[in-house]
Amino acid sequence: MKLVRPSAQYKASFTEAAREIEAEGLGGFLKASYDENDFQKYCDTVNNLAHGIGLAAGNVSETIFWMVDDSDNFIGNVSIRHSLTDHLFIFGGHIGYIIAPRSRGRGYGTLILMLSLPEASALGLDKVLVTCDNTNTASARIIEKNGGIFENEMYSETRKVWKRRYWIDLRQR
Ligand SMILES: CC(C)(COP(=O)(O)OP(=O)(O)OC[C@H]1O[C@@H](n2cnc3c(N)ncnc32)[C@H](O)[C@@H]1OP(=O)(O)O)[C@@H](O)C(=O)NCCC(=O)NCCS
Repeated sequence: MKLVRPSAQYKASFTEAAREIEAEGLGGFLKASYDENDFQKYCDTVNNLAHGIGLAAGNVSETIFWMVDDSDNFIGNVSIRHSLTDHLFIFGGHIGYIIAPRSRGRGYGTLILMLSLPEASALGLDKVLVTCDNTNTASARIIEKNGGIFENEMYSETRKVWKRRYWIDLRQR
């Protein structure tokens, strides 16, 4: 299992997973709409976010990785924001991840966050904020198993949800 940058070589398994992710209403994790007939364009769009190109208003640069298995099948998506906005400070944190529905419950959520931490260090971050809905027990477990130190719960006015907020110190890893 490894993290890779989005690339058209993973198109088949990505698009299968993306359809399932969109069906559960979580397409926002995929950052942009994709066109199967011009998949390279989608890869370019999400890769460009790392360079601050094509960001939605108010968004900061973010590096997207895909986790793929040993046969290069897409397993999940992780996004590392390079800095925090007021909104990310409460709602999204530095790192957001999603595992393809068919691949859940096998430890991959824990693994994708673990693999993303050295990448966050490489981006110059000393510590990262990772948040989850206070009802998302799986994500809370993932963060805690990766050394997340619980700070508090904060209410997101925009999303009308309580978020559990954790910090992971990257200098101690
Ligand atoms: C949350 C998510 C990433 C978990 O992925 P996953 O691959 O199933 O996670 P893991 O297999 O590593 O499981 C992590 C822990 O959660 C537990 N868990 C998994 N699914 C669970 C569920 N539905 N309810 C309660 N606990 C659950 C596991 O038992 C494990 O805990 P353990 O190590 O103590 O046994 C996945 O469900 C997902 O992509 N959800 C939609 C997007 C999302 O919520 N992203 C997180 C945003 S903060």
